[in-house]
Amino acid sequence: MERIKTYIERLDERLEGGIPKGTISLICGVAGCMKSSLAYSILYKNAVEGNLKGLYITLEQDAQSFKKQMEVLGLREESEKLTIVDHKMIDKEVGVNMRFEHNSIKKVKYYVDDLLKREEYDLIAIDPLNALYSLTTIKNPRGEAHLFFEELRETGITSFLISEMYQGDNRFGKYGVEEFLADAIIHLELKRERDILERYLGIVKMRYTNHHLQYFPLFYNRDKFIIYTKEELEL
Ligand SMILES: Nc1ncnc2c1ncn2[C@@H]1O[C@H](COP(=O)(O)OP(=O)(O)OP(=O)(O)O)[C@@H](O)[C@H]1O
Ligand SMILES: [Mg+2]
Repeated sequence: MERIKTYIERLDERLEGGIPKGTISLICGVAGCMKSSLAYSILYKNAVEGNLKGLYITLEQDAQSFKKQMEVLGLREESEKLTIVDHKMIDKEVGVNMRFEHNSIKKVKYYVDDLLKREEYDLIAIDPLNALYSLTTIKNPRGEAHLFFEELRETGITSFLISEMYQGDNRFGKYGVEEFLADAIIHLELKRERDILERYLGIVKMRYTNHHLQYFPLFYNRDKFIIYTKEELEL
């Protein structure tokens, strides 16, 4: 099975080489746990080091401010291989057909389908998935989520969907179906140890992969993510 590297130091070798190509992963966690940074760093490193083409769709933050935030992390946009689009750019692109479409799932799907007719992408991230559900015109969110996952999988692109969780809520997706529809769940957790917040990364599930079940301490160092194992921390 072909795999896509995460470039998170020490993680790939614990995932049989990376994330299975063509699958859909949820990257989930509460506010500030570095969901966007992690998803972007996967696309960024794959573009720069793996020569794979990525599309990052940021729906709640405009592209300019997102780029700035990523530059602070040392991830400067590689425009040839990595495209960042926001909702305003999508509205502009979809034209009159979709301009008055209030269903964001349909709008983003239309945009991606149209783009894929012209260009090929290896990786796509949608940040956050919750923004697709944000308008009230969605009558059957579970059904629409199902269809969206199915259509995304059919494209064959390796996808990352950012899912926002709330403190105390243990569902990985808003409607409780996403966690079953996704092939993989990468859970980022913030834990308070005395007066310090610590970040952890856990692979809750990853189809076709014999993965570790530990929640690994997660750090961002210069321009990359790194995990530690319990054994290393005890040394
Ligand atoms: N070098 C770094 N090491 C650790 N944390 C950092 C570093 N640089 C920025 N941060 C922190 O990362 C957090 C933001 O990360 P990010 O935006 O990726 O999180 P998020 O989970 O997407 O948040 P949101 O829920 O707001 O979308 C901020 O709290 C910021 O202070
Ligand atoms: Mg974010």
